[in-house]
Amino acid sequence: MNRVYLDHAATTALVPAAIEAITRELARLGNPSSLHGSGRDARRVVEESREAVAAAFGAHPTEVIFTAGGTEADNLAIKGGYWAARAADSSRNRVAISAIEHHAVLESADWLAREQGAVVDTLPVDGEGRVDPGSIATPGTALVSVIWANNEIGTVQGIPGIAEAAHRLGALAHADAVQAAGQLPVDFAASGLDLLTVTGHKLGGPVGVGALLVRREVTLTPLLHGGGQERDVRSGTLDVPSAAGFAAAVQAAVADRADYAVRLRALRDRLAAALATLPGVRVNGPTAPDQVLPGIVNASFDGCDADAIVLLLDQAGIDASAGAACSAGVTEPSHVLLAIGRSPAEARSAVRFSFGHGSTAADVDALLAVLPEVVERARAAGSLAG
Ligand SMILES: Cc1ncc(COP(=O)(O)O)c(C=O)c1O
Repeated sequence: MNRVYLDHAATTALVPAAIEAITRELARLGNPSSLHGSGRDARRVVEESREAVAAAFGAHPTEVIFTAGGTEADNLAIKGGYWAARAADSSRNRVAISAIEHHAVLESADWLAREQGAVVDTLPVDGEGRVDPGSIATPGTALVSVIWANNEIGTVQGIPGIAEAAHRLGALAHADAVQAAGQLPVDFAASGLDLLTVTGHKLGGPVGVGALLVRREVTLTPLLHGGGQERDVRSGTLDVPSAAGFAAAVQAAVADRADYAVRLRALRDRLAAALATLPGVRVNGPTAPDQVLPGIVNASFDGCDADAIVLLLDQAGIDASAGAACSAGVTEPSHVLLAIGRSPAEARSAVRFSFGHGSTAADVDALLAVLPEVVERARAAGSLAG
């Protein structure tokens, strides 16, 4: 059975250009920090990759710090940014994050609160997940972090206004653009941000590599100490094949971005419109096309448990994702859906469908063909359980 993959926001396939770049570099010998010829050759590949990533995202090459993915880049931004701001001015002990951050940001901020005495201000969102930049106004803020495009419901934020509000307070401005990159125009210089997170495996690159873009004037306190690579902010021998594969994927994604977004948007609009006609189904997130990621549709199914829907879809050969996080075996309602005003029951019934390379109208048809029966069975199971 050919499976229908509707979980590209979790991870997506490597694009051919990335496979080619990784394969080419896997056989290379040489540490990019070594001064000899083999080292210099490896260094050249890393620096060309850095230049490609920088050019694609409107940054200067020295602003690209390679990391082992989005989680590390978010940790470095939140903890490294907070520590540096605090070291420069000890009265800055606050971190402001939106109520709909990815766990990599959320847990980093929570850790600062628990272990380091930081005060975390949670910026509220409206019913579609948008942050009002006017809510960023508390003196003593070291750092503000707002997710560029949300990974569960796709809400796109007005990042320049948020960066401006952070700067009015003298705070650093960070955005997690893991989901935005490759689907929306992401220009670091134009955004006004100090720090920006991107990762490879959501845009056709390898898992385990990403970058934090760090404005040239900004100094971060490192999380990792060692050989002083990456402006002394991220020690560790540079991973040449991953950097090359990441850069190739970023280049391909940015070159095709506008057409790709149109293709995804057509699939999204079709699915969202069809879902809205099903009884007891509510699409979560913004409705205006310019305020939502082209590739994500999230919907709550009245009287259903999201896990039941995901399992029944799985049996039908369709991969989708429950909107709720499972922690320690207990399904918690998604903090994102609660933040936009959904009830715990609505949040527990939310399923995310996400499109990417290779998604077609036939995938939407396949989903819609089985969904009414799947929902009926999940509802029946729900009413038995309830
Ligand atoms: C918005 C967002 N930020 C960060 C991450 C983490 O990135 P990585 O898987 O590269 O660590 C993800 C991946 O799920 C994400 O969707």
